[in-house]
Amino acid sequence: MRIFSGIQPTGRKHLGNYIGAIRQYVAGQRRAQEAGDLAIYSIVDLHATTVSYDPAELRERCLDTTALLLAAGLDPELCILFRQGDVPEHTELTWLLCSVTAHGDLNRMHQFKEKSDSQRELVSAGLFLYPVLQAADVLAYRADEVPVGEDQRQHVELMRDIAERFNARFGDGQQILTVPAHRIPEVGARIMDLQHPERKMSTTGGSDEGTVYVLDEPEAIRKKLSRAVTDSGTEIVRSLEKPGVTNLIDILAASRDVEPAQVEEEMAQARGYGDLKAAVADAVVEMLEPVQARYAELRGDEAALEDVLAAGAERAREIAGPTVADVRAVMGVGPPPAR
Ligand code: TRP
Repeated sequence: MRIFSGIQPTGRKHLGNYIGAIRQYVAGQRRAQEAGDLAIYSIVDLHATTVSYDPAELRERCLDTTALLLAAGLDPELCILFRQGDVPEHTELTWLLCSVTAHGDLNRMHQFKEKSDSQRELVSAGLFLYPVLQAADVLAYRADEVPVGEDQRQHVELMRDIAERFNARFGDGQQILTVPAHRIPEVGARIMDLQHPERKMSTTGGSDEGTVYVLDEPEAIRKKLSRAVTDSGTEIVRSLEKPGVTNLIDILAASRDVEPAQVEEEMAQARGYGDLKAAVADAVVEMLEPVQARYAELRGDEAALEDVLAAGAERAREIAGPTVADVRAVMGVGPPPAR
């Protein structure tokens, strides 16, 4: 069982990213290894160039993201961690896969529509091809499993279609490319904005007040939680009528790594929502403090971070290179393969 996922080097990572994605990555490296395979994670700088961006800042954000992933527990001995742009196979495979990608399918991608609406100067062709690059990311490693958020479901469906169409068109009965499956976590998908608990916590669509960032100072975390929107009533239980309280229970459970039902049981003795908020703040601070300390240490040594990425890229190319060679060979591209 091989795992692949990509993470954007843009924006500050928040609690939803941490609980939903980053912790899944950390768990995935063990799971993959126990299954005798690998977890491969990429910081997708090429994807970040599809919307307006600043080149110098992109470099910084890649290192921020690398340091954060390492601080959260990714171990370059257990997984492959690399920067997408360091592995040219991704761009080459993107072009090759374009031949089995339907223009009409790309036109139907929700994220393309949303992101193109928010671009002021230019809707780049790269933004349109973004899902093909994402397919190349995963298919280059013949990954089986793709841990992603709910918002990426359509992109994973598309890469499955691309792999199936490629095998049907060029495979001559063989599975040249592996058809991957998504793995959408139940918990992180549900971390909501503290001010607008009907909306997901988000860097772009959310409120700053309602978004807890992984690198927020403990004081800021406590403040945001103390101001979290709750609901009428006093009972600390999850229910559809209580989105604010439900969200706080979910965050507390995820931070302590227990079931929400257990939190409800413990909180039955609480005096009110104030107790709940304080408990959530304690648990979140306790979860994030060690990550923040390690981050500060790692982020200070850029040369060491570049070394980690370079070693990761080398290992990544050892896998992606042969895949691209197979793809070229069956597509009739370039010189005939040496026999
Ligand atoms: N598009 C994904 C996101 O915005 C990031 C990504 C790029 C990715 N390549 C990937 C995710 C490959 C999974 C697999 O979150």
